[in-house]
Amino acid sequence: MNAPFEGKVISKVAAISRFTELADYIIPFTIRAVSELKVADTLQAGPRHVSEIAREVGANELALYRAMLALASKGIFAERERGVFEQTELSVLLATDDPMSLRDGYRLLHADIKAWSRFDYSLRTGRASFDIVHDQGYWDFCSTHLDYSRMFDNAMAAFTKLEYRAILAAYDMSQCRTIVDIGGGNGKLLSLLLHSLPNARGILFDQPHVVDKARPVFEAQGVADRCEIVGGSFFDQVPAGGDLYIIKRIIYDWDDAQAAQILGNVASVMAKNGRVAVVDPVLTAGNASDPGTTYSRIYDLLMLAMVSGHARSEEESRALFARAGLRLTRVVPTMLFPIVEGVKAG
Ligand SMILES: C[S@@+](CC[C@H](N)C(=O)[O-])C[C@H]1O[C@@H](n2cnc3c(N)ncnc32)[C@H](O)[C@@H]1O
Repeated sequence: MNAPFEGKVISKVAAISRFTELADYIIPFTIRAVSELKVADTLQAGPRHVSEIAREVGANELALYRAMLALASKGIFAERERGVFEQTELSVLLATDDPMSLRDGYRLLHADIKAWSRFDYSLRTGRASFDIVHDQGYWDFCSTHLDYSRMFDNAMAAFTKLEYRAILAAYDMSQCRTIVDIGGGNGKLLSLLLHSLPNARGILFDQPHVVDKARPVFEAQGVADRCEIVGGSFFDQVPAGGDLYIIKRIIYDWDDAQAAQILGNVASVMAKNGRVAVVDPVLTAGNASDPGTTYSRIYDLLMLAMVSGHARSEEESRALFARAGLRLTRVVPTMLFPIVEGVKAG
């Protein structure tokens, strides 16, 4: 190797190492595989030898050891002595009984993963790669693959456990009498909100095969008697009379015409002094790399790959609201996605 070339390589080492960290998919897949096997659950009571862990989760011992060592280099599990692992601040988030558990959010969602393998298609066309690898749109796929649909609903519920805290901390709902959760999945958000707001009633609205599984979620929070469950399509009509319509992670799934139709259907039935609270990423331009900006951009791409959707800037949301007969009143920051609030226009 001649000297100038060597110098160039050395000066690039930090960049190469950072690049590798960003570009490799091996650690993310390993996290998801141990999540699938519920490896973290086995360490909740204290350190264990990998042979015991492997037996308990049905893994090949050497393969699991190799995976746990690789993850230990990233702070997920720690090898306390040879072959004996303990939980870390990160790995505990993969335990199913941790109150902040992310386990259901980071499983091997195989249909999503298959779509990512053709993300080049999305970049070329601006359309979801999901549709071409599965020959079906995301929501049609879920309605015909009910096990996958459950896995998806549980993934959403895992993030909702965090989002609901952020929403409650930032947004006053104490005066709400009827909260309608539009596209509310299996009811996780509404059940948690009703639990914290004892004077409110709720209506959960989502597709029939999704809300089918919601009753036990409300029962687990002790709020089933204050909640109505309605199945249908938000492109047809939505339940009337709510004074707060929460629309979390819905609008960014759709193009402007579809999103305006959903919001317009809400605007036409909401109470006179009602509010809509759209919980979605809000995009900004530029190179900011703070967690909020990064999170918004990542989810914007997820929408592109899965559903041909997109996140919006505040100005784009204002225009969308106006098209739907709503007036954007404010954007309320939360620790996660902001709340874009609107009221009836005029
Ligand atoms: C990204 S998930 C968000 C779920 C939930 N709001 C949350 O934040 O956890 C989108 C939801 O929209 C629902 N959905 C899709 N198409 C729908 C339709 N036409 N009518 C009602 N809900 C629909 C899906 O079933 C799914 O629960």
